[in-house]
Amino acid sequence: MSKNKNNKAIWSTRIKKNTTSIFKKVGSSINTDKRLYKEDIQGSVAHTEMLFKQKIISFKIKNKIIWGLNKIQNEILKGKFIFRTDLEDIHMNIENRLHEIIGEDAGFVHTGRSRNDQVITDLKIWMKHSTVDLIKLLENLNKVFLKVAEKNIETIMPGFTHLKNAQPISFAHYLLAYFEMFKRDKNRFENNLKNLNENPLGAAAFAGTNFNIDRFFTTKKLKFNYPTNNSIDTISDRDFVLDFLYTVSACSIHISRISEEFIIWNSDAFKLIKLNDKIVTGSSIMPQKKNPDPLEFLRGNSGSSFGNLFTMLTILKGLPLSYFKDMQDDKRLVFNSFDLLKNSIQVLIEVLNNFSANKKRMLELANEGFILSTDLADYLVKKYNFPFRKAYLITARIVNYAESKHLKFNDLTMKDLNKIDKNLDESVLEVFDLRNSIKSKKSYGGTSFENIKKMIKKYKRESK
Ligand code: ARG
Repeated sequence: MSKNKNNKAIWSTRIKKNTTSIFKKVGSSINTDKRLYKEDIQGSVAHTEMLFKQKIISFKIKNKIIWGLNKIQNEILKGKFIFRTDLEDIHMNIENRLHEIIGEDAGFVHTGRSRNDQVITDLKIWMKHSTVDLIKLLENLNKVFLKVAEKNIETIMPGFTHLKNAQPISFAHYLLAYFEMFKRDKNRFENNLKNLNENPLGAAAFAGTNFNIDRFFTTKKLKFNYPTNNSIDTISDRDFVLDFLYTVSACSIHISRISEEFIIWNSDAFKLIKLNDKIVTGSSIMPQKKNPDPLEFLRGNSGSSFGNLFTMLTILKGLPLSYFKDMQDDKRLVFNSFDLLKNSIQVLIEVLNNFSANKKRMLELANEGFILSTDLADYLVKKYNFPFRKAYLITARIVNYAESKHLKFNDLTMKDLNKIDKNLDESVLEVFDLRNSIKSKKSYGGTSFENIKKMIKKYKRESK
């Protein structure tokens, strides 16, 4: 708790005993919220300027307070500031130091505000900047996806459903699926900025204040767009925290999914991709090993992000209005999710820059599992005007026949095929070609090479 110059807690006149030491220790948030020192000082400066403009404090006191706050900022930047657990949080640490530097006039800084609106103001300012950082990182990530996709337009691989060969695709098309996911993540972060642009400062404890404050002034100073409309909601609201944690979680799902796929594809059973030595680690006992630890790290990180989201949801569930200490944990969760995602995106960029597609193996696997069955059925529909279900049935018979003879589609002769359906002619053989299959998927958003080239151009235009 904050102490006055006699080194007593601010509330010591009212609360006669010292708070029990175990709670003082574990209830303190300074180790987490000291990360908000810049935003806290920024908020206090804006508040102080507003108090002066509104003639609530004098010119002299305003200058003294702002001078003291700048001095504190310098002390922190130089690593000379002592963060004290007994002073609970960043707000009390800074206010207490202001007392030490400028004396009793420091007490004016808290006129018409509360730690309750102060902490949300700090966190929202921090979150706005961090959101912009993440948006930039996601843009970088998507540039790398585009670069790798561009090199792999003609790389043919099996596309999977249920992890079984389904239909052939271009590897670029697969990579661009992730481009879309991360684009949506970026949009989600951008959407979050709207709520983050409402200024909580001036809601005071929760009911507003009888001082003639100007919330529009601090709104402008702190680069928010509007003051919040309802002081009770302002203090109780942590929706912006949920939005942030959810957005991080959604993004980390995407990171986790590609990580899982790459782990599988890098396995000795699949061998569809190769990770270079920059993104593997070894085993302490098995000398031959090159393990995809960075990818496993990414997959694991998503679990912690979901945990943070669920922790916050649970904290808020059933919490009456307005402020409760329960909410203090929000910052720990937000900082942790931010750090996890920032690290994850950076690691994923490294992964994308340091792997290669095993094109030969991709093609080999794409030739397994009768992957062109749908193409064959589609061909029968077009050529003979069959209802799709009839075409599906004939194709299934051909698959059964080939499988029983241990043959691939390509190995089938016209004699084999005519055993199943006597109407089939040589043109059917053209269907058994992976490239033709991919080329034919021209529907908008489909995997044809032409589509992909156009889509890459579009993405490039949009990201300029
Ligand atoms: N450290 C506190 C938090 O993060 C600041 C608000 C304290 N308000 C109070 N009424 N105890 O939630």
